Amino acid sequence: MQEKLEAIRREIEAGIGQANSRKELFELKMKYLGKTGEITALLKGMRDVPAEERPAMGKLVNDVRSWAEELFAAREEELKAKELSEKYASEKLDVTMPARFVGTGSVHPVTLVRRELIDIFAGMGFDVFEGPEIEKDYYNFQALNIPADHPARDMQDTFFITGEYLLRSQTSSGQIRVMENKKPPIKVLSPGRVYRSDSDATHSPMFHQMEGLVVDKGITLNDLKGLLDEFARRMFNSETKTRLRPSYFPFTEPSVEVDLSCSNCGGKGCRICKGTGWIEVLGAGMVNRRVLENCGVDPDVYTGFAFGMGLERIAMIKYGINDIRLMFEGDVRFLKQFKD
Ligand code: PHE
Repeated sequence: MQEKLEAIRREIEAGIGQANSRKELFELKMKYLGKTGEITALLKGMRDVPAEERPAMGKLVNDVRSWAEELFAAREEELKAKELSEKYASEKLDVTMPARFVGTGSVHPVTLVRRELIDIFAGMGFDVFEGPEIEKDYYNFQALNIPADHPARDMQDTFFITGEYLLRSQTSSGQIRVMENKKPPIKVLSPGRVYRSDSDATHSPMFHQMEGLVVDKGITLNDLKGLLDEFARRMFNSETKTRLRPSYFPFTEPSVEVDLSCSNCGGKGCRICKGTGWIEVLGAGMVNRRVLENCGVDPDVYTGFAFGMGLERIAMIKYGINDIRLMFEGDVRFLKQFKD
């Protein structure tokens, strides 16, 4: 019996170091301490040992059993710690690793300009109205005092869809749509895309305009001038001045072209203003009586002014862009220079 116990001891001592996982250790433990294990069998065999030898023998087997239990428990702890540290090592997250770069887009210069303009004019009480891009000849031309045979149609080379429908060539069509639906006082801004059969470094077949319309009792050209002065100072800088020159649009009378003092050179003359100190930025005027009448507004009671500007043109001046086509090519090297 003693020899048998000695053999078991040696076997366990040898085997335990080789059990490299908790599963292997468990199997080894069962071999000796399980229900049908060798030590368990010895304990069960006590029944057959003569009564006088039983206490001594029992003690020997019990000692080996507790020794083995302690040994297995210790090894179990060791393996648990080892498995845990292996798990930690394999699941390690290096928070100091540089993040993978995810490219973000930037806001298009026309969008930047549109947002800024809406901000400026909304601050002065303007509502925003967006009309349709596919427009009726009536709204784009006739109601704006440009009849079918009017020579002013030549100023805007138009894409016709049918005899009646066209791609709007100006956001001035918004003036009519607004006045047809709302009684004065009116103060609206109408931004959007417009189309003309025209293409070179300063003209694109599709571009953006922003129309402004104010109609109320007692509105004069002075109000227009004051509003444009404020717009110029906010859009460019506090030194920017406006200059009105006589012009012609069928839907305004009188009509003006509006120049701004060059924000690049402060009016001294540079490449951007072509040495003149002034840059033409928009068309404007007092709404023609005929246009008011066409919309059911009594021109003897109400007067108004309108203005229209090209957003690409404003962006070109503001950001010093020399070719309008850059704005439609989608070259990221160009686009990423503009930040919100
Ligand atoms: N619609 C004109 C254009 O496209 C600009 C303009 C708008 C002029 C409003 C006067 C009043 O050239």
